[in-house]
Amino acid sequence: MFEKLEMAPADPILGLTEAFNKDTNPNKINLGVGVYKDEAGTTPIMNCVHKAEKILVETEKTKNYLPITGAPAYGKCVQELVFGKNAKVYAATAHTPGGTGALRVAGEFLKKFKPSAKIWVSDPTWPNHNGVFGAAGFAVGKYAYYNAQTRSLNLDGMLTAIKVMTPGDIILLHACCHNPSGIDPAPEQWKKIAAAIRENELFPLVDFAYQGLGRGLEEDAEGVRLLAGTLDEMIICSSFSKNFGLYNERVGAITIKSETQEATDKAFSHLKTTIRQIYSNPPSHGGAVVATVMNNPELHKEWEDEVAEIRRRIKQMRELFVATLKAKGVKQDFSFLTHQYGMFSFSGLNDEQVKTLKEKYGIYIVGGGRINVAGMTKANMEPLCTAIAEVLKT
Ligand code: LMR
Repeated sequence: MFEKLEMAPADPILGLTEAFNKDTNPNKINLGVGVYKDEAGTTPIMNCVHKAEKILVETEKTKNYLPITGAPAYGKCVQELVFGKNAKVYAATAHTPGGTGALRVAGEFLKKFKPSAKIWVSDPTWPNHNGVFGAAGFAVGKYAYYNAQTRSLNLDGMLTAIKVMTPGDIILLHACCHNPSGIDPAPEQWKKIAAAIRENELFPLVDFAYQGLGRGLEEDAEGVRLLAGTLDEMIICSSFSKNFGLYNERVGAITIKSETQEATDKAFSHLKTTIRQIYSNPPSHGGAVVATVMNNPELHKEWEDEVAEIRRRIKQMRELFVATLKAKGVKQDFSFLTHQYGMFSFSGLNDEQVKTLKEKYGIYIVGGGRINVAGMTKANMEPLCTAIAEVLKT
């Protein structure tokens, strides 16, 4: 059987990392995968994580299984981050292997209870959304999101699209730092989006992978909190790959929110069954690190400062990139990048230019032109902008 197979296509994002790793060009630059780099071009372990790991090594007493939904202490931390410290919500959280794991669990769970619903994702979206929900058996549709002319949110198009979805359908929203455009709704726009979702009786599924990398830990949760205040039921998929730098520990979470404790408990019982049938129960370490940091005032403060530094550096790189391109005589206006949030922006580079950048200069950008601003450093900015200026001339 295996002999007869064709090769599967490489993943548009992680496949690019594989190609990057093989590239022997000493000046190669990876602006593909959404991984944070510091000024030295490395992806460091956060200080607060190091310290929490030391505590865990000294205090951990067993490697026994966790409950199916993970450690309750971790779930509590996730809910504090999502809804705010003293929020009164009927919610329950399960620890999943990463944000992608949370999305897939959400897909499997929703398919059981909404077998004929369609999932709607923003146009554009993270390419793997299509794969994850398609694999869970859903038809995936696109709703208008990005206005390529103004490089901003196409709110009218989005609201119109929401109105024509079939009641009961599922709408996937990016809580903040929209991947791939970097364009987030403002609070007033979130209100309109929430009202339209409520009116058309859609089910909101929120992908929350970049909390703290946009405007701030609290600010980045405004949209999701607004939705939670307006809509009776929702699912939120969190990831701590980026804001704790815990990429390879696969630490994410799925949170179910409803209007009553009873409904939440019932839904959570079915979520447990779903998880048990996929991976039984989650790995412990990443969740234990997050809970240790969050519940230790000193480490919590240090974490907030480290996330603030990530945010500051990303903002600085956005500004430096725009200024350096300008200094190189690039005519196109890239200033839109400084109004966008998180790791990503749409550069406006077309697929041909993306290909040339990779083949001629060893600069890796996701197809469609998404750039990871967090992969830029002061040291790689000059060669990067020189190359971009060159390809823009062609
Ligand atoms: C990305 O969009 O680059 C990240 O979310 C990493 C991934 O899994 O694709």
